[in-house]
Amino acid sequence: MKYSSQIINIILACALLILAIKVTLLDSSAGKETVSVKTNDALENILTRRSVRSFTEQAIPEAKIDTLLRAAMSAPTARNTQPWAFVVITDKNTLKQLAEELPYGKMIAQAPLAIVACGDLPKGIKGYGDGYWVQDVSAATENLLLAAHAMGLGAVWTGVFPVPERIESVKRILSLPDSITPLNVIPVGYPANPGVVKDKYKPENIRYQKW
Ligand SMILES: Cc1cc2nc3c(=O)[nH]c(=O)nc-3n(C[C@H](O)[C@H](O)[C@H](O)COP(=O)(O)O)c2cc1C
Repeated sequence: MKYSSQIINIILACALLILAIKVTLLDSSAGKETVSVKTNDALENILTRRSVRSFTEQAIPEAKIDTLLRAAMSAPTARNTQPWAFVVITDKNTLKQLAEELPYGKMIAQAPLAIVACGDLPKGIKGYGDGYWVQDVSAATENLLLAAHAMGLGAVWTGVFPVPERIESVKRILSLPDSITPLNVIPVGYPANPGVVKDKYKPENIRYQKW
């Protein structure tokens, strides 16, 4: 009898201890605002995108290429001018030529697909907004990169504009008319190496209200 009452006492003491710990924890969070930010698929996709520079040989289905182009052309543009054109390349020889002439684009030769995002300058804003096309086509490029990532593909932006010799090479290889300026070449494929997500968030880049 004495033994069983000792056990009950121990159980009661444990229960009291657990209760005390809970109350202390609740107290310490009182007054603090806890904000839980829910991420949805779109946000998760943005936060996990990374440049992919090696690809398997698997071809990209037409439907996925179509989605990439639709995503690109969903981007905002200054005065909604949409001053862009996209050249879709699956021809191995053309991919090889681009890789040979772009110093930081060697991975293009390995990709089953590259999309060249170009400015169609006559469609853009003239005068005060001459340079807006770069931002317009850059927005389209980021949309395309995100769409690729969302569909399990990998891609990387390889820079062309504003380097004169790269612009000249791409224009020559693709027979682009004078009015079309290539901004970049984006090789796309199924990742052979998924690459790494870099944490680029730096609080020191942010100012509030004034510098
Ligand atoms: C304007 C621009 C030009 C770039 N040019 C190249 C390039 O020529 N070759 C390359 O491998 N990556 C290029 N990149 C990709 C960057 O190296 C890459 O975005 C950066 O290292 C950050 O890595 P992340 O995309 O994985 O976040 C370019 C990116 C931008 C925005």
